[in-house]
Amino acid sequence: MDFAMPIGFTIRVATPTDELTVSALLEASYTVLMQQDYDQDLLSAVLPKMTSASPELLRSGTYYVAENESGLIIGCGGWTRGRPGKGDVEDKLGHIRHFGTHPEWIGRAVGRSIYDVCERQAQSEGVTCFECYSSLNAEDFYAALGFVSVRRMDFPMGSHLTIPGVLMRCLI
Ligand SMILES: CC(C)(COP(=O)(O)OP(=O)(O)OC[C@H]1O[C@@H](n2cnc3c(N)ncnc32)[C@H](O)[C@@H]1OP(=O)(O)O)[C@@H](O)C(=O)NCCC(=O)NCCS
Repeated sequence: MDFAMPIGFTIRVATPTDELTVSALLEASYTVLMQQDYDQDLLSAVLPKMTSASPELLRSGTYYVAENESGLIIGCGGWTRGRPGKGDVEDKLGHIRHFGTHPEWIGRAVGRSIYDVCERQAQSEGVTCFECYSSLNAEDFYAALGFVSVRRMDFPMGSHLTIPGVLMRCLI
């Protein structure tokens, strides 16, 4: 199903065939937009892992892509019942996953529109609270969506690396 948006893009559920294009989008997005809050050495080490589209998310039915009028993927993001990394499920809790917008499309409601689709779907499945492991640069984005910062954390990125971020929560 496609979700019509009034501003030059549509949103649809991602599929495993989107793996290469979603990875390319994440790389284009994170490489540029995370520079404002992280140093280049850390980004060089973590971005290869952070910008690989997750096959599990692409299969989930709760991960979305935004496409422009030419069919190019210009945004992505989703949610899961399972906690990232561990997979444990808590009653009524959902987890925001792997959002990214192409740098040429930021500030044009791509992220918010994908989030709105996630929120509606999660509410219909009985979720009442979202948690999010936000990058430092995305904290204001999630705050604009209604999330509250809980605490700064170092998030594991593979076996030896961590990246600082913010645990955020939102009642939906
Ligand atoms: C965070 C990100 C997904 C936001 O995407 P976007 O499509 O530009 O967001 P939107 O245009 O939908 O913005 C939604 C709201 O957030 C606000 N917002 C977005 N980015 C913001 C920023 N950097 N600072 C302050 N507010 C911001 C917008 O002003 C807007 O507010 P409004 O709807 O009340 O007017 C995008 O900047 C990105 O891809 N960043 C790099 C990757 C990343 O860090 N992803 C998150 C991983 S946890």
